[in-house]
Amino acid sequence: MLNAYEKYICALDTTSKLRKLPVGPTLGPHIFTDFASNDYLGMSKNLDVISAAQDAAKEFGVGATGSRLLTGNLSLFEALEAKIAKDKGSETCLLFNSGFQANHSVLASLLDESTLGEKPLVFFDKYNHSSLYQGVWQSGAEILRFKHNSLSHLKDLLERYRHIDRPKFIVTESLFGMDGDFAPLAEIADLCRIHNALLYIDEAHATGIFGPQGLGLACEFGTENFPLVIMGTFSKALGGSGAYLCCSHTVKEYLVNKAPGFIYSTAPSPVSMAAASKAWDLMKAMNGERKRILGLADDLRKELKESDFDSGSSRSHIIPIRMANENQAVAAKNILLEAGVLVSAIRPPTVPVGTSRLRVALSVNHTDRDIECLLKGLKTL
Ligand SMILES: Cc1ncc(COP(=O)(O)O)c(C=O)c1O
Repeated sequence: MLNAYEKYICALDTTSKLRKLPVGPTLGPHIFTDFASNDYLGMSKNLDVISAAQDAAKEFGVGATGSRLLTGNLSLFEALEAKIAKDKGSETCLLFNSGFQANHSVLASLLDESTLGEKPLVFFDKYNHSSLYQGVWQSGAEILRFKHNSLSHLKDLLERYRHIDRPKFIVTESLFGMDGDFAPLAEIADLCRIHNALLYIDEAHATGIFGPQGLGLACEFGTENFPLVIMGTFSKALGGSGAYLCCSHTVKEYLVNKAPGFIYSTAPSPVSMAAASKAWDLMKAMNGERKRILGLADDLRKELKESDFDSGSSRSHIIPIRMANENQAVAAKNILLEAGVLVSAIRPPTVPVGTSRLRVALSVNHTDRDIECLLKGLKTL
């Protein structure tokens, strides 16, 4: 039987697609300029966040000791849920151990055919994160992928299925994590109203950077008259781990009774939830930092354009640099690493075939000098 796994690994190896855990400079203290991490607001090492985590460990212990439905329902979690729901203008909120777990478990549950009575139709942006796809796939729902950020394609598909009276869902990221571009959320919301569809938004990369006080892009358009579920993570700009889901009371109660990833998993660690709670409070006051990161991003995009690099449709702190092919992306990443600059090489299957790129993620810790180093390294490619 083990042969089958070996064959799988060999096939990846021969096509240069074998992933390896990084060793060397990417472990331990940073000795390079890091444009690969998602710690956009530098919260992972914020002393107030660390201190809140330490206090929580002393008060609650390092673990929740059980599922929230058994021994793990700490007051800390309920307070954080209430705070996030209030800030995001949502009826309620539910915490998860990770963004992946939330997307996977929530979508698989919301799309359950036996609950809905019919197989749902899911209109799904082609560039959505794997965790969103895994949840939809597991549910067995009919999936209709629309071209990345293409309202016209989404409209066509919805029109084609207009007279099919099955539950409809539209699933999208608000800020796309690999390309740094925005979904047209206000227009998608209108389509949800017209077609009576539920909108599921992943705010993993927008949380902390976009929207009023960094509360996300879903706060920036009208959310009346259609069902809305918003997932956001604590693992990017908030520097820690875990996720939140903003939804109605009914959806929360349903998930507490249905979502295996919630029911059968030990509740998040009080340490990570206390860190997330402190980072959430700090994030709201970081308008200056947000402005600075986005200013750096504008400057970098301008410089890249002048040097004939293609940064696609990025309009955020996440900037792709398109490469001709996978090998070129990996070679470029390695050359930059030798020059002390860490970026991610993003290849299929993370992104569609033929769209390999370097991914540069800017953070509050970057200086003009760091950007110069990156540009200098890129010019040697
Ligand atoms: C868009 C998106 N959603 C969800 C996730 C998963 O979040 P987490 O890392 O908290 O599991 C990621 C992680 O990279 C992501 O980019």
